[in-house]
Amino acid sequence: MSVESSRAFLRIVYDSPELNQQLKAVTGTQEIVRLGLRYGYTFDVPELMEASSSFTTAPGRAPKAARRTVPPPPESGPLHHEYRLDDLPGLKGMIDQLPHLKIKPPSVDPARFSGSFREEDLRSTSMSPADPAFQAWHEAMTKAHWRDPALGSSAPRRDFHLVNLDEHVDHPGYDRYLEAKHRMIRTLEEFFGSEVRFSGSLWYPPSSYRLWHTNETQPGWRMYVIDFDEEPAGTSFFRYMDPRTEEIVTLDERPRMVRFFKAEQDPGKLFWHCIVNPTQQHRWSFGFVVPEDWMTAITRQM
Ligand SMILES: [Fe+2]
Repeated sequence: MSVESSRAFLRIVYDSPELNQQLKAVTGTQEIVRLGLRYGYTFDVPELMEASSSFTTAPGRAPKAARRTVPPPPESGPLHHEYRLDDLPGLKGMIDQLPHLKIKPPSVDPARFSGSFREEDLRSTSMSPADPAFQAWHEAMTKAHWRDPALGSSAPRRDFHLVNLDEHVDHPGYDRYLEAKHRMIRTLEEFFGSEVRFSGSLWYPPSSYRLWHTNETQPGWRMYVIDFDEEPAGTSFFRYMDPRTEEIVTLDERPRMVRFFKAEQDPGKLFWHCIVNPTQQHRWSFGFVVPEDWMTAITRQM
């Protein structure tokens, strides 16, 4: 294992279209370590972090962004767009992959997971990000790096009470799962005619949540495919605050749906959002970074 091996891997990644394609499907650092091993490069997560912090590419080699027509942000109207996956025949390939992606890795400890549920944190999703009481709570949490100060720096993070599937690579089903993620990317790139990357693959067991956040460090359009293990008796929801009006919008969810929204960086346009699954069903969401003109492909199907 070495930082040099990690650096050598990053160099070949940069030059190889095949590896670039592979990387579009992974979001976890453990996944990159595993991918490196597959190509004969041995390194661990700290070595990868060290190599990537000092990794520079030759001048003039940065990939060129494609020129596309981008619609201006709406002055009014909803900031989200939702569709039924079944209404988009061009995305049928995604429906076929869902059974391979909706996994429950055996490396997840269900008792430890339910033990980290906190009523106080869940309650914060009922507040408005514009409320000074929320802002004070949020600031205190941020200062504590979303960890309970009483439990020390190794305490679990409180803002993600869910399972990030991409952090679980040491289970027998991982390779099959990764193959399905690759097929998902192929389907989406064909559909949008442009580059698409996974942004996250999340399993929301019963009574799970992702607290209010903005994703401002990764601005751009997101597409999420949402599905359940069975028809939920109640409903999970996605909630956001419209930055133009501070109105809180709560969107109920149903199986096999697709949602688009845009993460913004401008302090006046931040897209505060949170997700809660209070049902007894299991919810999965698969997120993608999609091109700015994603709606052109959708409109062609309607
Ligand atoms: Fe988010």
